[in-house]
Order: sequence, then structure tokens, then C-alpha cells
Amino acid sequence: MPLLWALLALGWLRRGSTVYLQPQLASVTFATNNPTLTTVALEKPLCMFDGSEPLSGAYEVYLYVMVDSASSRNASVQDSSGTPLSSTFRHTQGGKTGPYKAAAFDLTPCSDLPSLDAVGDVSQASEILNAYLVRVGNNGTCLWDPNFQGLCNPPLSAATEYRFKYVLVNMSTGLVQDQTLWSDPIRTNRPAPYAAIDTWPGRRSGCMIVITAILGSLPFFLLVAFAGAIVLSFVDMGSSDGETTHDSQITQEAVPKSLGTSETSYTSVNRGPPLDRAEVYSSKLQD
Ligand SMILES: *[C@@H]1O[C@H](CO)[C@@H](O)[C@H](O)[C@H]1NC(C)=O
Ligand SMILES: *[C@@H]1O[C@H](CO)[C@@H](O)[C@H](O)[C@H]1NC(C)=O
Ligand SMILES: *[C@@H]1O[C@H](CO)[C@@H](O)[C@H](O)[C@H]1NC(C)=O
Repeated sequence: MPLLWALLALGWLRRGSTVYLQPQLASVTFATNNPTLTTVALEKPLCMFDGSEPLSGAYEVYLYVMVDSASSRNASVQDSSGTPLSSTFRHTQGGKTGPYKAAAFDLTPCSDLPSLDAVGDVSQASEILNAYLVRVGNNGTCLWDPNFQGLCNPPLSAATEYRFKYVLVNMSTGLVQDQTLWSDPIRTNRPAPYAAIDTWPGRRSGCMIVITAILGSLPFFLLVAFAGAIVLSFVDMGSSDGETTHDSQITQEAVPKSLGTSETSYTSVNRGPPLDRAEVYSSKLQD
């Protein structure tokens, strides 16, 4: 984990001066499932503004968000005097008409970052991740409050490309002191296509129908094969020793009848009493 931390910090540093750095998507180590449909987790600009020397005085980092479009590539987040824009999600139609301020936070000094070794500890994990990550789009509170004045960070639109920018604001002057470049476009997830989650049988794909048909007729084929096996086994029996046993049974039954002897003994052994009477009756008819 210390190695990870080092990689993270070096990731910012090796790109040289702040001006050429861009906000980065949070590593999957910290944020699995990122981006989601409505949120994007970014690495905070740790060791970025204070990588070479510690910052003096009070400062804050603002995070600006805008929808990517050709006309917004060079969008500025400060006015001519250097004051950072205070445009909101609502003003900019969710970043479509310009950048809005989505978050403001203090940075943990580069020399004082929390150890990632403890990130497995549930009691500390959220605090540590909070020091390393910022999640855009995770607070819709402001959308429900018509009088809301503060920072608004409501859910982003799905399947939309956004760009992000960090700005270092000197709180004693209220001016932009430093800033990153706009990030590369980062696209939020698209919703699962309707057909993929639909279980209505009428919408099955061709492949599914073939598989269903095969599975449906499988028992029939098994039955046919099974019946065939039985028939074959009977044919087998008939052609070999099975034949002789049938013959012997027939001759055993035929012999006493043809001889006309001890009809009663034969029936008493092989059949029940009711048949016994019937045979007596038939023998009387014959007489
Ligand atoms: C903020 O501005 C003051 C006055 O210009 C300066 O002394 C201070 O170093 C600045 N703070 C940061 C964090 O750069
Ligand atoms: C954006 O800014 C760069 C440098 O400041 C400039 O060269 C480029 O022409 C600008 N592009 C647009 C679309 O304004
Ligand atoms: C959401 O935003 C409101 C207003 O800024 C704030 O009071 C609240 O603590 C935020 N909730 C979370 C989970 O960040």
C-alpha cells in the first residue's frame, strides 16, 4: 500500500509543473465501479499544488465540471480579475452551457497524507478515501431545495462526457492562485440496454430461440433414443438365447393341452380358482 501511495503522488509529480496536470479518474483500487451512471470519482490533486513546496496561508481547492463539447474546450473558470466563478449546476444546466463549481475542499498537505495501510480498517476507510478521492455527482440535496444557495453537486447525466478542472484558490485574496488543465473527457456509464434486461419471451433474440428450441426438443430426442435402445435390446434377445426360452415356454404350455391330460392340475398351478370354473364349463361344452 505505501507503494500505491507513492505511485499516486508520483503520478502527479512526474507530469511536471501544475499547469500541465489534469484531474485523473480514481484508480480502481479505491473506487470499483467508476464511473457510474451518475457519478465520477476523481483523485484529489494531492501533492500537486504543494508538490515542490508547502502552501502558506489559507487555501481551498475548487472542482469545476462541464459537459464536453467543442465550444467549451477553452472554458475559463475565473473572471478577468482572477476571481473563481461561482456558477452552479442550475445556472449552467448541469454543465452544458459552461463550467459549474461542484465541490470545494481543503487539501491534506503533501507531507501529511494518511497511510493507505489502514484503508482495510472499516472505521478509517471512509476518512482515508475522503482524503484521496472526490466524487462528482453524489449529492442531490440541493435539487430538492428551491432556496438552496451553496455548492451543488447533484447526479451527472448518464452516458455523457464530462471534463474536470481543479483550481487552487487563495482564501486571503479570494483569487485563483493555480489551476490544472481540463481533464480528458470522462464518460459516465450508459444504462443497460432495455433488451438486455427484458425477459419478455416475445423479445428473445434469434440465438436464444434456437437454444430454446434445441432444449425444448431434447427430451423428445432422448425419448426416441431410449425407445430405440429398448427395441434394439428386444431384437437382440429375440435373435439369441431369448428365442429358446420363449419356445420352451410355448412347448411347455402346448404339450399338456395336446396330450389332454390333467387339465385341472395345469390350471390349479398357473391360474386362480375363477378360471378353474370357466375351464370346467368350457370342457362341458366341448362334451
Ligand atoms: C495567498 O496570497 C497571499 C498574499 O498574496 C500570499 O502571501 C500567500 O502565500 C498566498 N497563499 C497561497 C496558498 O499561495
Ligand atoms: C484554446 O486555447 C489555446 C491556447 O490558449 C488556443 O491556442 C486555442 O486556439 C484555443 N481554442 C479555442 C477553440 O478557443
Ligand atoms: C449534501 O449537500 C448538503 C448541502 O450542501 C450538505 O448539507 C450535506 O451534508 C451533503 N451530503 C453529503 C452526503 O455530502
